[in-house]
Formats: sequence, C-alpha cells, structure tokens
Amino acid sequence: MKLWGGRFEEGPSEVFERFSGSLHFDGRLADVDIRGSQAFARALERVGILTAEECAQIVAAFDALREQAAQPEFLGGATDEDVHTLIIRKLSETAGPVSEKIHTGRSRNEQVSLDVRLWLRERIDAAAGLLHDLLGSLLALARRYPTAVIPGYTHLRRAQAVLWPHYLLAYFEMFARDAERLAEARRRVNVMPLGSGALAGSGFPFDRDAIARDLGFAEVTRNSLDVSADRDFVLDFLHAANTIALHLSRLAEDWILYSSEEFGWMELGDGVTSGSSLMPQKKNPDSLELIRGKSGRIMACYQSLLITMKGLPLTYNRDMQEDKEPLFDAVDQVAGCLEMARAVVDSVVLRPENPRAAAEESWVIATDLAEALARAGTPFHQAHKLAGRLVLESVRAGKKPADWNAESLAAFDVRFTPAIARLLDPAEGMKTREIRGGTGPAAVAAALDEAGRRLAVLRA
Ligand code: ARG
Repeated sequence: MKLWGGRFEEGPSEVFERFSGSLHFDGRLADVDIRGSQAFARALERVGILTAEECAQIVAAFDALREQAAQPEFLGGATDEDVHTLIIRKLSETAGPVSEKIHTGRSRNEQVSLDVRLWLRERIDAAAGLLHDLLGSLLALARRYPTAVIPGYTHLRRAQAVLWPHYLLAYFEMFARDAERLAEARRRVNVMPLGSGALAGSGFPFDRDAIARDLGFAEVTRNSLDVSADRDFVLDFLHAANTIALHLSRLAEDWILYSSEEFGWMELGDGVTSGSSLMPQKKNPDSLELIRGKSGRIMACYQSLLITMKGLPLTYNRDMQEDKEPLFDAVDQVAGCLEMARAVVDSVVLRPENPRAAAEESWVIATDLAEALARAGTPFHQAHKLAGRLVLESVRAGKKPADWNAESLAAFDVRFTPAIARLLDPAEGMKTREIRGGTGPAAVAAALDEAGRRLAVLRA
C-alpha cells in the first residue's frame, strides 16, 4: 500500500524503494504513531469528518494494533515505505473501508514531527530518571568517604588538596546542569504540531488545543511552515545528550587514571571490569573506556543532524528522514552510558591512603603557605616567592612537607610562624577554604546536604 500514486503511471523501482524506505528504523515509532492517530481520529470526529461510530471503530482498531505493535514480529517482513504507511495499511486491513478517512487534512510531514515529539518526550523522561539515579549514586559515594583528601589537578599536575566529596560534587554540578538542559529540551519537544498540514496549515478547522490536551502537550506550534521545516527540538535534546556524554567521558577518563596502578586511588568492582585473553593479571576498565568511546559517537549524532539541516530550503525535504537514526542512536547510547556509569560509581572502593599520600608527598600545600603569609601581612608577591623558594630548596634536598617542622621552617624564614607551619598538613590547609563553593570541610558538608535536597526536588 502507498499513501500516494494517483499521478504516477509506473510504480517506484526496486532500488528506489530499498534506498528510500525508513521502516527498518522508524518502525520503533509504531506505538506513538498509533496514539497520535487515535487523537487525530477524535479530532476528525469533532470536525464532522468521522461519525462518532466511525471514530469509535477506528480507535478500537488502533487499540488492537497497539497490542500487536508491542510484539517483536509486528514489523516482520513488512515492506511499507515508512511507519506511517504501515500503520494506515494495518488499520485498513483490520477496520476496513472506515479507515479511508483517517488521513483527511493530515500530512506525514506534521505526523513525523508529532511522532518524534511523543516518542522523545518519553525517552527524555527515562534519561532524566537515569541521570537522577547517577546523581544519587555520586552523593552516596561522596558520603562513604566524607574526609578523604585527594590532590586536585591542573594540567594533570598536583595543584591543591581537596576533599573527595568536593571532587564528586563537581560532577554532581555538571550532571545537575544536564538535568536542567534535558528539562529545557523537553519543554521545546512538548509542543503539538498537528493542524499544520503539509506546510500551509490544514484545510480542516481542527481544534488544535483539544488535540494538544488529548496527547498531553503543553502548547501548540505557531507556524505551519516552521513545523514542516523544524528539527530544532531534536537538536536541543542532542545538545543535552552531548553535554551528558561530555561529562560522562571526563568522569570515565579521571577514573581510568585513578584506578590505574600508577594512581592506585580506587578499585573498580569486578562486575564492571574485564580481563585479558592473554595476560592473566589484567583487570581492565572497559566499562569506562566504552563510556568514553560512545561519547564520541553521541557527539557525532549531533553533528550529523546539524549538517543534514544546514542547507535545506524551507520547508520539508526528504533529507530530514535522516534525523531519526542519529536521534535513536544518541537516545540508546546515552541511556546505556548513564546506566553503566551508575553501576561503576556504585562499585567503587576508594583507597583513601593513596590519594592522601599523593597529596602529602607533593607540594600541594604551597598555596596554603603563601596565602597564610599574605594573611599575616606579607604582600602576596613576596609570599608567593618565599613559598616558591621553600619548594625549590625542598626539591633540591629531596624533602617533602612532612620533612619540615615549625623550628626548621622558622629557621628557613622567620615569617613562617608556628601557626603557618601547621599548614604543612594538607588537611589543615583545606580548613582555610570555608568559602561557599570551596573545599573547606564545613562548606563541603553543607554542599553535600544542599545537593541531597536539590536531588529530591529534581526527583519530585
Ligand atoms: N518517512 C518520512 C520522514 O521520516 C516521513 C515524511 C514523508 N514526507 C514526504 N513528504 N515524503 O521524514
């Protein structure tokens, strides 16, 4: 069955049908296509195209189709052009002649927009749920080691000591912004396009607000040309998917390093690592490497659709059928990565003594010393220079901060008072960073509490 053909003398060639068909990927829109068509049947009844009885018959036939569509064999062997054609054919096979009116005043151009919006709205909700679970797991991991000290890095060089929960809360912030971006994308998706026709607006006086209410949309689109031409709402989701992927990839990269023998900070669970077919000792962080790898693929989906859209004249062009595979792939991969990341987070066992030793044996306290000198009245440039000279001298002599004490420091320079000497311990220096957003223990405890409350709001 075709939804067109009257003006053709010959049917499409086999190669064109094979090349242009989309059922093998848009078949997953079957359920939303049916739900959209049920709402459309009710709209047709309201404008008098369908009688109440015809409408009820069609809606019931669609209900039966929805059940069939949930079975894996539903698409088996079908050769229809796309999912919209398939569903109308199935309707005509089950409901008979009454189905002849179902496409009155409707175009597949608006239907595909409607279907993708309905489908994506649900996928966004599912992704948001997974994101919230990941946020919860990050907080739980932070609370398991509330006092652990790690060196923070810039340039992958030890920079200043921070609390382990402070480090994890950085990722909490990134993923919390991602949750906001998902919600923002959902708002753009949650707009009802039917009534736009092919491009010029439908020739039938549909009550568009009633259709929107029927399908749970918050508002209706404002311009019919825009509806046929627009895939911004897909791009908005893909942008949110991209920043999720970006943040997951950076977390993965951190932990591939931190769980290595070179760092030795953490152990990943056996359940999320794999061995080597040749080297018996290996325990590889494949789950994290795949998250990092798939993030590139998710980013490519965004590029793919942007490039597809950039040169298209208004309004619909068949190029736009190429929106679906990248969208579907990004949705699947983001969900998979979020689920995997959460399992990794839940499996982590921190070895707090190792990052603590890494902080103690390096000079991450140098800034604490310089700032303490400045607080005691030494101009910062001089304080910086003095702390720098202490580091240089120590590096030359092979000394760590712990090799110094109040007496030897005062002998090095009288400006190093006993109070300042206490900052040779990185955990002490952190106490000077009780500023909001800083790594001071009280600030971090408050941030953890606040994060817990924010997550509860997100989940509500
Ligand atoms: N399968 C098409 C798509 O995904 C549906 C719209 C077809 N419209 C058309 N004018 N050929 O874009």
